[in-house]
Amino acid sequence: MLNMDSKLLAAEEAVRRVKSGMVVGLGTGSTSARFIALLGAKVRAGSLHVKGVPTSLDAEELAHHHGIPLLSLEQAPLIHLAVDGADLVDKHLNLIKGGGGAHAREKVVDYAAKKFVVIVDESKLSPYLKGAVPLEILPFAFPQVKRVLQRKRVRVEPRAMLSDNGNVLADAFFPRIPDPAALEQELNDVPGLFANGIFSRNVSEVIVGTSHGVRVLRK
Ligand code: A5P
Repeated sequence: MLNMDSKLLAAEEAVRRVKSGMVVGLGTGSTSARFIALLGAKVRAGSLHVKGVPTSLDAEELAHHHGIPLLSLEQAPLIHLAVDGADLVDKHLNLIKGGGGAHAREKVVDYAAKKFVVIVDESKLSPYLKGAVPLEILPFAFPQVKRVLQRKRVRVEPRAMLSDNGNVLADAFFPRIPDPAALEQELNDVPGLFANGIFSRNVSEVIVGTSHGVRVLRK
């Protein structure tokens, strides 16, 4: 199969998980955008009746554009299913997210969901997590957070843009992350570090779009 859009294949498979009546967490990024478009088409056609909870201002805008009715977290005490992309997935289904800077809201919605389905293409698979871990940091705290991480010999580079929440976005660099859950917790413990892009919890399955169809990974 030539020119197959692997991200679209993963998104199509995720749409099959959606049932009428569900509240669906809507992820951010190019793969999630395909999911939102496909879901919107079904909503507009009247074949699915769902409501969405967006993980970013971009996802919110896209959902509006595709006709998916939205709820706030206050209006949606239960999210049945969240569907979101990832930047890297290791063999234990730990993730790095936040390439687009949306990881703080993504983590709130994806961790709250009863089921969290990740959609990626094959390029996102890696035996272990490594490289840039996105951070969202309170602007006031940025110099101190940087100092704390530098003392642990971690390089921190701020990005030029702020998050949807008005906070500083930055990346922390790790050659290899042997224990993602421990690193997620360690970063959670740094005062002023609002959110980090390690997602070590709540993943139900990872749908991988490939040039030959989809593969579903479960723990
Ligand atoms: C947004 O901040 C990210 O967490 C995205 O979910 C992630 O970067 C995946 O994006 P793509 O689907 O565009 O690769």
